[in-house]
Amino acid sequence: MQRPPSWSEHNAAAFQLDDVVEQYHLRAPYPSTLSPFLRDLALPPSGVVLELGCGTGRVALPVAREGATVVGIDRSEPMLDRARKRVKRARLQSRVQLVRGDIRHLPFPDKSFPLVMAPYGILQSLLAERDLTKTLAAVSRVLTKKGTFGLELVADLPAWDEYSKKVSMRGKRGPNGKPITLVESVKQDRARQITRFEQEFVEGRGKGAVRQKFSLAFRTLTVPQMVRRLEKAGLEVSALLGDYQGGPWDLRAEVWIILARRG
Ligand SMILES: C[S@@+](CC[C@H](N)C(=O)[O-])C[C@H]1O[C@@H](n2cnc3c(N)ncnc32)[C@H](O)[C@@H]1O
Repeated sequence: MQRPPSWSEHNAAAFQLDDVVEQYHLRAPYPSTLSPFLRDLALPPSGVVLELGCGTGRVALPVAREGATVVGIDRSEPMLDRARKRVKRARLQSRVQLVRGDIRHLPFPDKSFPLVMAPYGILQSLLAERDLTKTLAAVSRVLTKKGTFGLELVADLPAWDEYSKKVSMRGKRGPNGKPITLVESVKQDRARQITRFEQEFVEGRGKGAVRQKFSLAFRTLTVPQMVRRLEKAGLEVSALLGDYQGGPWDLRAEVWIILARRG
């Protein structure tokens, strides 16, 4: 019997779907600039920045626009394809390199990046402890001595209330020019710290509406739990941040950013 796909494989499959890729920008707005704090962080004095799970280049592009050279790795060809088009349009080919691969097995030499970043909850899509362990070990290996690992967790997903079939987004014009609605359900598996999203994009109205369903799951470790995992991988936590301006993190912060250093 074939083994069923794990939730993280399932997440990866979702990012292969044309509709998810098409509509990605509706869920995650594209920043055109970085806050001064992130700009300073993203511009190591020398070397190349690695972004784990770069997707459509939402973060890689503004970082490259600031003058950094970025390598983005992602395992979804459709997301990378979209990123390639955006990089070309922005004429940033000389500063952004896109690599198809798995963040659990980074295909780069030891000590090759002074900064590795993991934005937008990418580590939370690794649902199995062993996948997180492999990824953190790989990050630690490719960081230069004193290099920085900057990771962002989507804040406190386990605290979200469960809901069923709620309209969580409405757009007047989706990618095909029709009105678009996102209907979402959230289920919590608190024992395993896993939050599951069932999402349905509805394009158009009435009988002619086109419906696309997919699901995503995220495992949210608390900040102290993630700190312990980082330390186990040989990384030393240098800051916990609660906003994009470098403000301190606390339990109520809406942004969870951890900075860790390679010894
Ligand atoms: C939520 S998107 C984030 C994209 C981008 N960093 C951003 O902020 O918009 C997560 C991305 O991670 C990729 N991904 C998930 N698991 C992965 C893995 N094990 N290896 C490589 N990429 C992965 C998905 O294909 C998807 O493009």
